[in-house]
Amino acid sequence: MKVLAVNGSHRKGNTETLLKRILDGAASKGAQIELINLMDKNVENCKACMGCEEKGTCNITDDFPKIFEKMANTDVLVLGSPNYFNNVSAVMKNFIDRMNAHWKDPRLEGKKVVLVMPGGQGKESREKGMDAFEQFPKICKMQVVERISPQLDLPKEAQKSQKLMQECFGLGKRIA
Ligand SMILES: Cc1cc2nc3c(=O)[nH]c(=O)nc-3n(C[C@H](O)[C@H](O)[C@H](O)COP(=O)(O)O)c2cc1C
Repeated sequence: MKVLAVNGSHRKGNTETLLKRILDGAASKGAQIELINLMDKNVENCKACMGCEEKGTCNITDDFPKIFEKMANTDVLVLGSPNYFNNVSAVMKNFIDRMNAHWKDPRLEGKKVVLVMPGGQGKESREKGMDAFEQFPKICKMQVVERISPQLDLPKEAQKSQKLMQECFGLGKRIA
């Protein structure tokens, strides 16, 4: 059983802490885990060249194809992004846009997805952000099985809450 987490945060902050804790929980049940920080990867912007429409593959040769193959082959995909203006971060949105060649891939259909989106500006904003985040797995016909959107602002806030860390560990155990 594989659990892959993809982090769209622009910093080593709350999203990464939450993802790592979820992965720890999954690993405690024997899952094979991996965390990909998109900021550490070379994922270029979609150029809208429509190469994917013409030949079914993307013209850009960067880190994205390898990340996509890992996504297609994982049992559970954990996607993390901070809430930026009631939406996903620019890094996560860029990653999502690169899925234009792959969103109909049958390997994605029914795949279990967990969405993780901390936000610092209250419940309403966090709910709107999560609604936006959910569009991507829905379009790919993946199945959102868990979502977590805690109120967090400062970069090291997540790890200070034992309750939240336990919640994430438990979530990781449930999905493994
Ligand atoms: C550019 C920017 C925009 C943000 N917009 C929102 C927002 O609309 N709603 C919200 O709840 N938090 C917003 N935040 C706060 C972050 O979501 C919050 O600090 C989060 O914990 C960051 O996660 P990270 O530490 O993984 O980067 C924003 C932060 C930044 C830097």
